[in-house]
Amino acid sequence: MADQNQNYAGKIAFVTGAANGIGRTTAIAFAEAGAHVAVVDLNGDGVAEVVAAIEAAGGSAVGITCDVSKSEDVRTALDKTVEAFGGIDIAFNNAGIEQQQIPLADLSEEDFDRMTAIDLRGVFLCMKYQIPLMQKRGGGAIVNTSSGAGVVGIAGQAGYVAVKHGVIGMSKSAALEYIGDNVRVNVICPGIIETPMITDRVSGGTEEGQKKMIAQEPIGRMGKPEEIAAAVLYICSDSAAFMVGHAMVVDGGQTV
Ligand code: NAI
Repeated sequence: MADQNQNYAGKIAFVTGAANGIGRTTAIAFAEAGAHVAVVDLNGDGVAEVVAAIEAAGGSAVGITCDVSKSEDVRTALDKTVEAFGGIDIAFNNAGIEQQQIPLADLSEEDFDRMTAIDLRGVFLCMKYQIPLMQKRGGGAIVNTSSGAGVVGIAGQAGYVAVKHGVIGMSKSAALEYIGDNVRVNVICPGIIETPMITDRVSGGTEEGQKKMIAQEPIGRMGKPEEIAAAVLYICSDSAAFMVGHAMVVDGGQTV
């Protein structure tokens, strides 16, 4: 049965990391559900491609090239969204980069700082400037992307684990601070999902590498971006109105 609470007609959704993978699929899902979507990513060509796909299917989108680690970029992206659609109701702060498999003492300071800047500071900047806009509209829903790496330790991933745990802690605090204004903040923690991050980079792009990734999944396969998008649309919907500061794990059993 279709969930009437998941009709996003007229809602305005801001999605980062929307040129690829989980963000792309979720941006398209919001548009299919009737939302106006701000497609936000560092990759300008990818942004244009996703906007074209949404518009070709009869949806409504604006494309914005933005580096989420830069305050000026984030503020401009939100200004452009308000200019295009009049405000913001939903934010999926999802842009992120991975860490190569490397022990902590060998992880360079530069790589640690870059990951922190995008995966943690990026989420901070987005929420910092989204929340006042949502307060003005009487509320909103924010979902930030963490990871299975946000709830357990992983050898060889200390930096990534640190920032993804940070996303959960920051989101829980923000959830408590702003639920009184009807702004709901929650987190999604995906397992291994079939996106360019995994298929092209983390796995090394080889069949052997993909098999190693799948071996970490009790379910015996990678997740699909659509399986994360469905969870995000649920969390942002009125069906999840009582869900506040929750980190939802959707991971095929990886962290069980
Ligand atoms: P992806 O690499 O396929 O897509 C990430 C997108 O983020 C790309 O379009 C990229 O251009 C964009 N991006 C990177 N740096 C940016 C920046 N500074 N500003 C704006 N956009 C930027 O990755 P995927 O797999 O879709 O990952 C999305 C999120 O999900 C990330 O936060 C990742 O850490 C998280 N995640 C992914 C998992 C997976 O197995 N694919 C598992 C758990 C979490």
